[in-house]
Amino acid sequence: MLKGLLFDLDGVLTDSAKYHLAAWNQLATSLQIKLPPAANEQLRGRSRMDSLNLVLAYGDQQDHFTQAQKVALATRKNQLYQQLIQKMTAADILPGISNLLADAKAAGLKMVIASASQNAPTILTQLGILDQFDGIVDPATLKHGKPDPEIYVRAQQQAHLAANEVVAFEDAVVGVAAIKAAGQFAVGIGDALALHRADYVVPSTAALRLDKIKQAFNAKQE
Ligand code: BG6
Ligand code: MG
Repeated sequence: MLKGLLFDLDGVLTDSAKYHLAAWNQLATSLQIKLPPAANEQLRGRSRMDSLNLVLAYGDQQDHFTQAQKVALATRKNQLYQQLIQKMTAADILPGISNLLADAKAAGLKMVIASASQNAPTILTQLGILDQFDGIVDPATLKHGKPDPEIYVRAQQQAHLAANEVVAFEDAVVGVAAIKAAGQFAVGIGDALALHRADYVVPSTAALRLDKIKQAFNAKQE
């Protein structure tokens, strides 16, 4: 029986994925690295340091920096990102999300955030929806980033639920992989081909309906 929803944040509740990409592009340009169009998909969902390593690899610069220099570069990216997100408000909640959260609350479902972003509490506060969630996994306490299942296993534990009692929402290929590795039901938001490992895919958040998701979830349990 469905008892809880686990949410990625960037690209699911709000379109902050575009700001992550813009900040990485600014950092890459300052290092004379040009990110290919594929970076848009490949950077989605990855932790800050995993993303930095990917950006440096695009420019064959992964061995050019010490660990301390990499931390400084990641901090610079985060400063650029924080400038971009500071004007976010409730108007930036993606279509369909407010209804989904309200329906889930009315149905008594637990809701936990499983975002790799250390900026998640700030963004949720700016969107005005922080208090709608029963918990947020602290990504600073994780050993592995997505596609490792750790963050989704932790989110499920914070909700005090079993893997077959939750549905998790993702826009990233590595995020869907993490959900499936955790043995949970994955809702993919975006390109059906890229997110083919998800159990249920919608092209955008506007198409999310709790009753339809429940139907697909129940059909899978039979
Ligand atoms: C994920 C984003 O949610 O968080 C990634 O999809 C980002 O793009 C990661 O790198 C870490 O975010 P932050 O805000 O801690 O740098
Ligand atoms: Mg995401």
